[in-house]
Amino acid sequence: MFNLILFGPPGSGKGTQSERLVDKYRLKHLSTGELLRSEISQLTALGLEAKNFMDKGQLVPDHVVIGMISTALDANRESSGFLFDGFPRTEVQAEALDKLLQEKNTSIRVVLALKVSEEELIKRLLNRGLTSGRVDDVTETVIRERIAEYHRKTSPVADYYDRSGKVVYVEGEGSVDHIFDQLCEEIDKRIAE
Ligand code: AP5
Ligand code: MG
Repeated sequence: MFNLILFGPPGSGKGTQSERLVDKYRLKHLSTGELLRSEISQLTALGLEAKNFMDKGQLVPDHVVIGMISTALDANRESSGFLFDGFPRTEVQAEALDKLLQEKNTSIRVVLALKVSEEELIKRLLNRGLTSGRVDDVTETVIRERIAEYHRKTSPVADYYDRSGKVVYVEGEGSVDHIFDQLCEEIDKRIAE
């Protein structure tokens, strides 16, 4: 099994690159943001609880997303590997993920972390907000709160994985094709090992 985390702040291109990576490497894409938006559109209790946090740009409580990931892992036992996008976002989530993978005799192979300047993140998200229908993309205040949550709670996750030498930083500005090639290079190196 080859499991990787695509890491980075809101708007860094995790979703864009994930789509291509799962296609090329035949991985199962697990995006907690997408899972949550699907719960919201189905008006489930979980979705309604999550919406209150998401609309403000705040993280949803750990137990909610850990539960969703645990269910998704169990539902995809035949997968040849997972690409985690937007998860884990706190140290508690990272520890829970390690445990869930350990129970399946597997682990995270690499954390690919996209680096994008704050100015570029805000530009991309405001621009997407014009058409995406995502409530959290519409106002700069909410976008800034998402970035603040990232600095407060999510960037420590990179330090967590750095302790086991798993983090590789990749420049996240430039053409989508070029960034994709850089990500593939890092993955190919590890597949060949
Ligand atoms: P989530 O859905 O994960 O959103 P996010 O992290 O805020 O990031 P985005 O999806 O907005 O950006 P992205 O990095 O995927 O970039 P994208 O490819 O779309 O989370 C949403 C909310 O759900 C959170 O705020 C939280 O409330 C909750 N949540 C989710 N997971 C959680 C968790 N684990 N714990 C707790 N709460 C959780 O690209 C962005 C834009 O840029 C697009 O328009 C794209 O076309 C464009 N773009 C991409 N690449 C480039 C490029 N190279 N050049 C120019 N433009 C580009
Ligand atoms: Mg995304």
